[in-house]
Amino acid sequence: MSASGFSDLREKLKSMTPHRDNYKNRVTDKDDSYKNRKVKVTDGGSSNGNGRKRKHRDSSEDEVEPVESREQEARRVQSGIVQVEVFSKEDCDVIEGKINEVVANGEAGLYREHTVDRAPLRNKYFFGEGYTYGAQLEKRGPGQERLYPKGEVDDIPTWVHDLVITKLVASGVVPEGFVNSAVINDYQPGGCIVSHVDPPHIFARPIVSVSFFSDSALCFGCRFQFKPIRVSEPVLELPVRRGSVTVLSGYAADDITHCIRPQDIKERRAVIILRKTRPDAPRVDQSPSPKPSPPERHAPLKAKRSHRRADPDAAHRPRVLEMDKEENRHSSSSSRLHRRSNSSENYWRRSQDGDVSRKVKMRRH
Ligand code: SIN
Ligand code: MN
Repeated sequence: MSASGFSDLREKLKSMTPHRDNYKNRVTDKDDSYKNRKVKVTDGGSSNGNGRKRKHRDSSEDEVEPVESREQEARRVQSGIVQVEVFSKEDCDVIEGKINEVVANGEAGLYREHTVDRAPLRNKYFFGEGYTYGAQLEKRGPGQERLYPKGEVDDIPTWVHDLVITKLVASGVVPEGFVNSAVINDYQPGGCIVSHVDPPHIFARPIVSVSFFSDSALCFGCRFQFKPIRVSEPVLELPVRRGSVTVLSGYAADDITHCIRPQDIKERRAVIILRKTRPDAPRVDQSPSPKPSPPERHAPLKAKRSHRRADPDAAHRPRVLEMDKEENRHSSSSSRLHRRSNSSENYWRRSQDGDVSRKVKMRRH
């Protein structure tokens, strides 16, 4: 049990989900098909490059969906992944020292309010651009994320430019000037990120990430269930090793969720996610809209109590683990399976294999 009262979820998961080491959609060391492929840079949009998409469970519940096997879908995911080895062990040592400095700065309260987002087993640091997501969203639902007004998060640190972005540009992973957002996720053992799609209305593709401190796995197409925690088998499990660069576009970025499962963070791990925000990405309104003049009333107004008061310190306080938050929002898992949620950034999608039990819960990060 951690100091904050949260236990390592890997233990719970081990008993709930027998981990199949020989799982066939696990990418192995022998598979180098992702390596050093050309990356297409776009300004956003949702395309898998071949016109065939995962069916979103958006409006028509009864629509008949094309059947696709997990293996076929795994190949479709693979077509949107490139992995590149750009950072040596020595590079990693230096960058990891810098990540530790970021953590120390955060603990010392040296960053702006929206730069730091703490959770018990995973902290996030937003640089360049930050955005509202998860429980921070006032109005929930896919596509509701908003960039914070400019200047509300700290600038991308110089070392991220000098040690990370410069190398990615030199290796042809991204063009010069592409990256304007850098997010550092710092995971403790057993930490995770639930299944989500990086919001396509906020971020252009590709999505680039570089892993540090330890090896882990990025999983695609998992379904999370809560209390007790369970994570379904991924459509694809992609090793993300210390120092490796992972580039997502097409189907892998837009048409299937990705996540980090608790059992895949065995030691502390960090990732730097490098993205470009879309020029037309919506922003949180900077100036509060003028108050409408009060309607004429004959009875005296009663004070209205809000149970969701704006709290400027919310981003700095430890929050419940993302998965627990999720559970709090949807109390009944059976009703969860059968409705479309309008209440948050989450919604259900049905996978193309047509298996009703394999609906993928979407969350946009
Ligand atoms: C994320 O997609 O938010 C995190 C991915 C990672 O940790 O590699
Ligand atoms: Mn993501």
